[in-house]
Amino acid sequence: MKFFIDTANLDEIREAYDLGVLDGVTTNPSLMAKEGISGDANVRAHYKAICDIVDDKVSAEVISTDFEGMIKEGKELAKIDDKIVVKIPMIKDGVKAIKYFNSEGIRTNCTLVFSAGQAILAAKAGASYLSPFIGRLDDISYDGLELIEQIVHIYHTYGFATEVLAASVRHSMHLIKCAEIGADVVTCPLKVITGLLKHPLTDSGLATFLADHAKAAGK
Ligand code: E4P
Repeated sequence: MKFFIDTANLDEIREAYDLGVLDGVTTNPSLMAKEGISGDANVRAHYKAICDIVDDKVSAEVISTDFEGMIKEGKELAKIDDKIVVKIPMIKDGVKAIKYFNSEGIRTNCTLVFSAGQAILAAKAGASYLSPFIGRLDDISYDGLELIEQIVHIYHTYGFATEVLAASVRHSMHLIKCAEIGADVVTCPLKVITGLLKHPLTDSGLATFLADHAKAAGK
């Protein structure tokens, strides 16, 4: 199972990378805006800075919503670094763009996926990654994890090469359940990754070990 961090914050990306468990990064226009990044040159420079931190797989999202615009923008993004994966929204022209990029050997991440039907279309078009949004479905009283399970089942049944990249992961239980279901990748904020570390018995156990060691040493 791969871990991607879902942020455009360079410090958080460095922290996750230094932990030694990071396989990639996903960003979106909202996450870029949150870091105050705007204007073509700054956006490109920021993607390059992210690529310089991690080993591979940096999702950079197109803003265009028409086929020609997505192709032009996606090609420009792909030129920034070999580590770039072009992120394309699940819309009609997006499906065509995914097909095009697949034929050009440019990796894509199909985003804003909320149904199994959309997942089938993206896989047929040859998306490298598919991003179904768990948290945003949970927010409107649909079961986001159930969708991940359904897509994993369909992809396995037909042997689709598209990797299921569980997105909009809000807490550690989302991540653990995705691992049980067999999602290929999970993308989440840093706090979800570091949240996996936490257990009160680890903390109290370590405190006891250190206290016993100090007592035996006569400290
Ligand atoms: C996926 O690639 C998106 O950037 C992200 O996971 C959306 O998460 P949110 O619903 O918490 O904004």
